Amino acid sequence: MVLGLETSCDETAAAVVRGGREICSNVIASQAELHRRYGGVVPEVASRRHLEAILPVVDAALRQAGLEKRPPDLVAVTQGPGLVGSLLVGVALAKALAFAWKVPLVGVNHVEAHLYANFLAHPDLSPPLVCLIVSGGHSELVYLSTSGQLEVLGRTRDDAAGEALDKLARHLGLGYPGGAALEELARKGDPAAVPLPRALAGEETLEMSFSGLKTAALHYLEARGGDPARLPPGVLADLAASYQEAVVDVLVERLMRAAQRKRVRQVALAGGVAANETLRRRVQAEAGARGLEAFFPPPELCTDNAAMVACAGYHRWRGGEEAAWSLNADPSLPLGRVSGGSCGKIVDKPVNIVDFFSTEERGGGPSK
Ligand code: KG4
Ligand code: ZN
Repeated sequence: MVLGLETSCDETAAAVVRGGREICSNVIASQAELHRRYGGVVPEVASRRHLEAILPVVDAALRQAGLEKRPPDLVAVTQGPGLVGSLLVGVALAKALAFAWKVPLVGVNHVEAHLYANFLAHPDLSPPLVCLIVSGGHSELVYLSTSGQLEVLGRTRDDAAGEALDKLARHLGLGYPGGAALEELARKGDPAAVPLPRALAGEETLEMSFSGLKTAALHYLEARGGDPARLPPGVLADLAASYQEAVVDVLVERLMRAAQRKRVRQVALAGGVAANETLRRRVQAEAGARGLEAFFPPPELCTDNAAMVACAGYHRWRGGEEAAWSLNADPSLPLGRVSGGSCGKIVDKPVNIVDFFSTEERGGGPSK
């Protein structure tokens, strides 16, 4: 039974997952409403709200999983990447709980955790596979080998796919985050109506780029007066549909190219943008045409949650990893590696509580 904690951005989440596959509870307190009026996440506001929400959220996750009387067997926490103040709330609580319960602790990479949502949704899925992880902060194409090693094959050179969708959505007054609202508007539009660029088209690359697309869309609006509120709804719907199509075109092409290069039979999507129906339909169709199997988590496991963190933590722990008490938040934690001396069996003798606190009192912080 693994308790997962996720506080990297604006969702305070806790979940209990059994054996890396079965979700016993999955609790999420979203701050989206709080940040909406600012048009984006305000880091300081986010970390304060995490502090208020985290204990009730963890309580609910433990209660729903029937863990009132006994602790979980492992605590997994998002260590990074993300907002440092937000990450710290989860990491500090995870350390405190693991220490008090005398259970092991594992630090998890948030982007990698998104990939693991596929293993929760499809218990029979096993690597090798190629996965496109697309969220508000990341667009990464990764290969997961049979032994669970991650290889980054390509990523965005500038904006993440979700960031690109969010930027146009905000400009059109659709609120934040706007990927889902833009998808809704796009349903009423023609995806071939507005000619928009596909960056790096014609290149045999696995990299992506979306900032030129955003600029082209803004120019399109400027040429029509600039103010989206004064444009007919049909024009906005056409722009939304064409813009989404341009993003999806690039994502699908890169995923299929990566599958071919790595000679895998399985492709997967992960991250908030993977909730997008157009993207899912296109990946399904293109994979089917090549005889590949396509996997997606359900939409609620695509966006940020702690069940995916528990699942990823379980697999890291099975691979022999355990965090030290020095585990720290790392806002720019790279994919494929856990940083800060958190790998390996650090607690090689029983933790001595007196030692632990005396280190604190000297101002050195927990060092074991
Ligand atoms: O994974 P996530 O919840 O948080 C990050 O780690 O960033 O992803 C959030 C991103 C946002 O950019 C949001 O607009 C996008 O996922 N998103 C969508 C959809 N639902 C969420 N993008 C397109 N279509 C959707 N249905
Ligand atoms: Zn995420």
